[in-house]
Amino acid sequence: METKTVGVMGAGTMGHGIAQVLIRSGYTVFLHDLSQQLLDSGAGRIAKGLNRDVEKNRLTAEEREKALTRLKPTTVAADLASADFIIEAVTEKFDVKAGVFRSLEPHCRPETIFASNTSSISITRLAAATERPDRFIGLHFFNPVPVMKLVEVVPGLQTSPETADKAVRLAESAGKTPVRVNDSPGFISNRLLMPMINEAAYCLMESVADAKGIDDVMKLGMNHPMGPLELADLIGLDVCLDIMKVLYESFRDSKYRPCPLLEKMVSAGRLGRKTGRGFYEYAK
Ligand code: CAA
Repeated sequence: METKTVGVMGAGTMGHGIAQVLIRSGYTVFLHDLSQQLLDSGAGRIAKGLNRDVEKNRLTAEEREKALTRLKPTTVAADLASADFIIEAVTEKFDVKAGVFRSLEPHCRPETIFASNTSSISITRLAAATERPDRFIGLHFFNPVPVMKLVEVVPGLQTSPETADKAVRLAESAGKTPVRVNDSPGFISNRLLMPMINEAAYCLMESVADAKGIDDVMKLGMNHPMGPLELADLIGLDVCLDIMKVLYESFRDSKYRPCPLLEKMVSAGRLGRKTGRGFYEYAK
């Protein structure tokens, strides 16, 4: 059976973006979060994103309205019972994610596929916390989801080939380019990206250049759309630190040692754009 209805757990930055691209691609999406306030915020961001598409003539007003009727925000996990596919995009903590999947298990059909948008947690370990490890997979989207083409499709040790094929088809039908990556710490994306961001933080800590200088080098010399420190502020310094810790602890290799400046900034609550201050300051 092909996927028609998708559940998205978490209406934050990643969850609302995933829901937006899916309703735009014709899927009915049950968007779940814990409070009406969080859902309203996510649904508001989706409406704003689709309005932008209408303004830019990428979508007609009628298509936008149809897409919005396919969005079903809910605070009730049981409402996801009809979903063929569920993508979790909640806090990047193993226990929280595993708890979300366990809470869904009694409501969902056996054939429903569970996917996690985790950026670093082992898919094999998450899958083992569910009763359907063969129907479990990593689907790693990138921020901002409507703009970034890539989805890393990450089968765990027990993921069936049918599950992986369905995940690839879902990503393609949502207009993304899936790349299959085996389950390994940081997958490919964060194994390469996070050490660069971490090294940029070391350069700043050692006063090799100021933040703007470091970012300008990578933008002007390497043609990156954003410098590593700007990008860290976009991703969230807490997320960057958590991923560095996963790399450090998983590979047990000192080359992944989190930069002390990154740790200090996270302790101070300077998490980037979301708190108004990271390596740069942002108007509230
Ligand atoms: N949400 C939705 N759309 C956004 C957006 C957002 N947060 N930010 C920008 N856009 C859209 C803009 O609306 C604009 O679209 P239009 O065609 O409607 O104009 C388009 O993106 C380009 O934006 P801008 O012209 O304002 O700015 P830009 O050309 O500098 O592009 C950018 C902005 C797309 C964010 C670009 O700077 C970029 O690609 N940066 C790198 C982002 C990146 O590396 N993301 C991956 C992070 S890692 C991750 O997500 C995974 C992880 O596990 C940590």
